[in-house]
Amino acid sequence: MLADTKTNTAKLNGDEKRETLTITDNRTGKAYEIPIAEETIRAMDLRQIKVNADDFGLMTYDPAFMNTASTRSRITFIDGDKGILRYRGIPIEQLAEHSSYLETAYLILFGELPTPAQFKDWEYKILHRTFLHENIKVLMQAFRYDAHPMGMFISTVAALSTYYPEAHEIHDADTRLKQIIRLIAKVPTIAAYSYRHIRGLPYIYPDNALSYTGNFLRMLDSMTHSKYEPNPVKERALDVLFILHADHEQNCGTNAMRAIGSSHVDPYSAMAGAAAALYGPLHGGANEEVLRMLSHIGNVKNVPDFIERVKKGEGRLMGFGHRVYKNYDPRAKIIKQTADDVFKVTGVNPLLEIALELERIALQDEYFIKRKLYPNVDFYSGLIYQAMGFPVTFFPVLFAIPRTVGWLAQWQELLLDPEQKIARPRQIYTGHSARDYVAMDAR
Ligand code: COA
Repeated sequence: MLADTKTNTAKLNGDEKRETLTITDNRTGKAYEIPIAEETIRAMDLRQIKVNADDFGLMTYDPAFMNTASTRSRITFIDGDKGILRYRGIPIEQLAEHSSYLETAYLILFGELPTPAQFKDWEYKILHRTFLHENIKVLMQAFRYDAHPMGMFISTVAALSTYYPEAHEIHDADTRLKQIIRLIAKVPTIAAYSYRHIRGLPYIYPDNALSYTGNFLRMLDSMTHSKYEPNPVKERALDVLFILHADHEQNCGTNAMRAIGSSHVDPYSAMAGAAAALYGPLHGGANEEVLRMLSHIGNVKNVPDFIERVKKGEGRLMGFGHRVYKNYDPRAKIIKQTADDVFKVTGVNPLLEIALELERIALQDEYFIKRKLYPNVDFYSGLIYQAMGFPVTFFPVLFAIPRTVGWLAQWQELLLDPEQKIARPRQIYTGHSARDYVAMDAR
């Protein structure tokens, strides 16, 4: 259908159709014609619907934004029914096969794949900003020996804003880009310091001669000053996982980034809030739940019994189902392949057999088919991370590192969007109407 945005008319089979919605307010008998653009009506167009002149006007009620677009975005496209995920139009499968995390990050931020010269420059800039101020190291050392690495990550990202006061100049494009580069460059170092901290190991400084993920692996694993060679299979697997987690349009953490960023605070403070959202078990913590579930099942022979209990409503099959994907999560397919590669190096995770059996049975069971429940990104990612030796508390940090570019691209898009203002939802007040204060002795 071709729509004329000025008149909101469209040609359909030769007939003139109006791209509008007519609403009749049965309280007043009045009819309103509201434009439809991009299969959406504007909530503010409902405000004109009033019973009388003093009336505030009609609002929409949409807890959890189940059917509300908060922005127009050019970054990430998802078709949940078809299981499609694309960054800037390019399918995730192609990026996972041919691209690197840093190249994908460039694409997400700038909208196009870099030329060789642009990539060289971009890579150089990122890899040469990986160091943290020494005081940040001292700050991180002050955490308890058993601090959750995600708590350390969030606090340290927030603390960075005090090191770069110019970051408040969010309307200056050059300053913005400088902070974006700093954040992408420094998050692996923060993550690695938090990892070394909980293990009681000395922090390792970055090696800018290595790749983004190679350097990260070195900061995690290196034990001596001899030359560290990252395992190429692990390095590539981590890079692929980073590509898959780089952005996912308006999810909880990204929405937090945009909401906080809309107050025009600096990006470090906004990103600390986004990372805090990711910390929650309903968002970045699901892969940990998958591992718990698999360990609880314990043996392949217990799988049919477990599935029966799930079907009776006695628990959920963790790592299955998604609010948006009603098909196989495209990221889960790629991760399954990546898992095979990693297990060749690390040895098979004993829980894999249980996971495969769960998937096999669930995918042919009427309960799961009817509800369109398929494996999501978390079903296999935890198995890979565990096989690579990461503790479960580190899983959300491994998610936050690559999501940094998504948060920053969405934050920048928000700032450059003339339609955006400070995010401030309405409410339906359900409390008391006006009443008088009662003195303490009269209560
Ligand atoms: N196992 C078993 N049943 C499930 C299920 C799961 N993982 N996920 C959803 N269902 C069932 C629900 O019980 C419900 O059944 P009903 O219609 O008989 O009541 C139906 O499927 C719809 O579920 P609903 O909770 O309304 O879907 P949602 O879109 O709100 O939830 C998730 C999406 C992701 C929260 C949900 O699928 C879930 O909890 N999955 C497990 C946790 C997980 O893997 N999270 C990571 C997401 S990336």
